[in-house]
Amino acid sequence: MTLTLEEAGRALADPAAYADDARLHAALALLRREDPVHWVEAPGYNPFWAITKHADVLEIEREHTVFLNAPRPLLASAVQDEINKRRAEQGVGLRTLIHMDDPDHRVIRAIGADWFRPKAMRAMEPRIAELARRYVDRMAILGDTCDFVQQVAVHYPLYVILSLLGLPESDFDRMLKLTQELFGSDDGDLRRGETPEELLAVLMEFFAYFQEITEARRARPTGDLASAIANARVDGEPLNDFDTASYYVIIATAGHDTTSSTIAGGLHALIRHPDQLARLRDDPGLLPLAVDEMIRWVTPVKEFMRTATRDYELRGVTIREGDAVLLSYPSANRDEEVFDDPFRFDVGRDPNKHLAFGFGVHYCLGAALARIEARAFFEELLPRLESIELAGTPESSATTFVGGLKRLPIRYALR
Ligand code: HEM
Repeated sequence: MTLTLEEAGRALADPAAYADDARLHAALALLRREDPVHWVEAPGYNPFWAITKHADVLEIEREHTVFLNAPRPLLASAVQDEINKRRAEQGVGLRTLIHMDDPDHRVIRAIGADWFRPKAMRAMEPRIAELARRYVDRMAILGDTCDFVQQVAVHYPLYVILSLLGLPESDFDRMLKLTQELFGSDDGDLRRGETPEELLAVLMEFFAYFQEITEARRARPTGDLASAIANARVDGEPLNDFDTASYYVIIATAGHDTTSSTIAGGLHALIRHPDQLARLRDDPGLLPLAVDEMIRWVTPVKEFMRTATRDYELRGVTIREGDAVLLSYPSANRDEEVFDDPFRFDVGRDPNKHLAFGFGVHYCLGAALARIEARAFFEELLPRLESIELAGTPESSATTFVGGLKRLPIRYALR
């Protein structure tokens, strides 16, 4: 595959490139090698700098007072950028943690932070283990074949996060559909509509649902995460409706597709590398390392963006005030300068300084939870697994944001 640098840069703004691992990684390897701070002009998008080296992603995340999340935290079309800008100016846009900077970000993050500390998460472990068992049991009930993504992986993390929020099980299917429509919106299979208006309709449905939850939890707090959000006070005042609904949206959405992609992509990697599967089964003590290797391998979050508040020199390139930079996590996580043999899936990889959870002030709030969930699932599955193989061709979702496998047909025997 011969690519020009321009083609490689444009791949970062092409959802289809993310559904084709070989094409994506050929483009990223070329950028890392030849032009790691690369200016991208892609049709339909405002231009941006593509940052592909691990050290540079780290440096930009560290410099969080120079590189802000607002106003362009994610890659979106130029039309969508304009709509987001207008909504933000009118105070009606989605404003989650990823849209914020200090001082607001610090205050709003603190509302949920206690819930996600490793100690609090450890208290959730028995409930998570129970859900993991339920989903491995479901595999047994399904027989000897299933689409692991659609029938198992997308359900389990959503159940975990909705249990943490304290939402009723009867609402879980509705939340699953809304989350997929919102986050899988680049992918024709999952998308409800093409236009920004149709996406807005999905968002409004989320908001309406959570508005009811907020009112119920304010009237009668129940000690769950939803109650903490609904009753949070900043400077003595409750959060406004948009900020409250946005908080639910980030928790419900960020905690879901990311972890299901990790579990599905991790299982796929184990099937493709039977030596690593055998090694893990022989030595289950490797599981925490294996989970981090799955997270690095899959890197479910493909990018976040920052905007420079002043001119900044990076690798001899001047990033101008107002320029946007795209942090390519899949690229950072295959950086030959940081990872020994980065394209080898190694369940014992140690150290493993991947950036799949980001870094610094925006570091993933749910990292401890995601690790526990993935570990609990494989702790339950591996001892029961007699055999496993592919039963068809896996397919990945075409999205520039959060993605991974959308189909993983498998054949298996469970004890
Ligand atoms: C932020 C990845 C699971 C909640 C992020 C960021 C990344 C990320 C890359 C941005 C970090 C940055 O800008 O430096 C992942 C991956 C996951 C995962 C790979 C699974 C393997 C979860 C879970 C939750 C969660 C389970 C919990 C509900 C959040 C929240 C933020 C965030 C709330 C925003 C934090 C902020 O801006 O301060 N995540 N995430 N994530 N994640 Fe996760």
